[in-house]
Amino acid sequence: MDRIVVEGGIPLHGAVRISGSKNAALPIFAATLIAGGEYHITNAPALRDVATIIRLLAELGVLIEKQSTGAYRVDTLQAQGYEATYDMVKTMRASCLVLGPLLARFGRAKVSMPGGCAIGERPIDQHLKGLAALGAQINLDHGYVEVVAPGGLKGTRITMDLVTVTGVMNIMMAATRARGLTVIENAAREPEVVALARFLNSMGARITGAGTTEIKVEGVEELHPTDVEVIPDRIEAGTYLVAGAITGGQVALEDVNIEHLANIVDKLRECGCQIVENGTGVSLKAPSQIRPVNVNTSPYPGFPTDMQAQIMALLTLAGGASVIVENIFENRFMHVAELRRMGADITVTGSTATVRGVKGLSGAPLMATDLRASASLVLAGLAASGRSTIARVYHLDRGYEKMEEKLKALGAVVYREKE
Ligand code: EPU
Repeated sequence: MDRIVVEGGIPLHGAVRISGSKNAALPIFAATLIAGGEYHITNAPALRDVATIIRLLAELGVLIEKQSTGAYRVDTLQAQGYEATYDMVKTMRASCLVLGPLLARFGRAKVSMPGGCAIGERPIDQHLKGLAALGAQINLDHGYVEVVAPGGLKGTRITMDLVTVTGVMNIMMAATRARGLTVIENAAREPEVVALARFLNSMGARITGAGTTEIKVEGVEELHPTDVEVIPDRIEAGTYLVAGAITGGQVALEDVNIEHLANIVDKLRECGCQIVENGTGVSLKAPSQIRPVNVNTSPYPGFPTDMQAQIMALLTLAGGASVIVENIFENRFMHVAELRRMGADITVTGSTATVRGVKGLSGAPLMATDLRASASLVLAGLAASGRSTIARVYHLDRGYEKMEEKLKALGAVVYREKE
């Protein structure tokens, strides 16, 4: 297994291009199942999770050809499978995103029930509740959930009990071909939901309200293949902004959607960073001392849970105490123990972490159990004195394209080695 070695203490300077969004790309690949034919997807990030969804589609009979960097031809005409196996779902929970598309196309889908994961229990009851409301029968058997709608789906009003990103995506995708109108209330407003709705509309779906709490889907008889460019990854962008801030450096990001970054940018400004927005670019200059801030994770447009670990790494070096409340996942503080091993002063009570800024962090051998926690350790390593090694690089490879190359371009001393 590989690990990442970081020699810390170097302020980062320079420019970096932000890749396509993981969490926008995954549902787009899944959605190509809805209508058979040839799609062209561009700006897809080279990530392990994208490779996993491609493997899953291939198992379902989809032909996929990589045409150039980030560009794929996806031909779903011959797709015929309707099952996401245990192997797939245990590798990546987002494999569940084929539920809605398969149900829309074939009136049937079977997906291994995802178990808990490192950051929380993460049930899919809301996905199933929505699909059942559309008229699907749900059967649970031998660890699999099978969803069938032999007579097709029928539009209805669905009120989500909580805000779920992939849950809304699954329901929206299924509803594209339901008879009549589906109204989804208390819908997630994440940019990735909006990007999916746009893609579905370009396929002939009739969706309005994506980006608000009420999404309306007027069912259509047929959808058709089309081309799509994946939106920039706001979490990758946020992570590199923190890399600039935590090292006392100055970084410029290219190819971002600044609107999607508003909450992250606001929070970093509160920390004292100077941030300049410029069309599809954004640059950050770190202050001489990071100011403490309070952070409450919440669904979009709130501060994203996917940036909580990274901002915590930054706040370990603030000039005072910060309070971070994690409201989305019940177990997303796995990075705390590792940050403490680097000298951070953090106490956790329930979903609240109190981070008291320290003068400096010291490099250490580190290990993380999920993607964003791993990113936070790399960030802490960049700011720490001496060497840090971050084990289990496969977590980072799920969500950060060419992370070492990008950090090196900013002047960091970072490389990958065999454990
Ligand atoms: N939840 C339920 N029941 C459901 C669905 C969700 O109780 O049926 C709960 C979850 O357990 C969680 C909360 O609702 O406590 C929100 O979960 P959500 O469903 O929104 O998460 P998700 O759709 O599984 C996506 C991203 C995550 C990101 C979350 C929250 C993808 C592929 N994944 O997950 O991304 O953290 O939304 O924004 O889009 C990451 O990229 O590192 C990552 C984990």
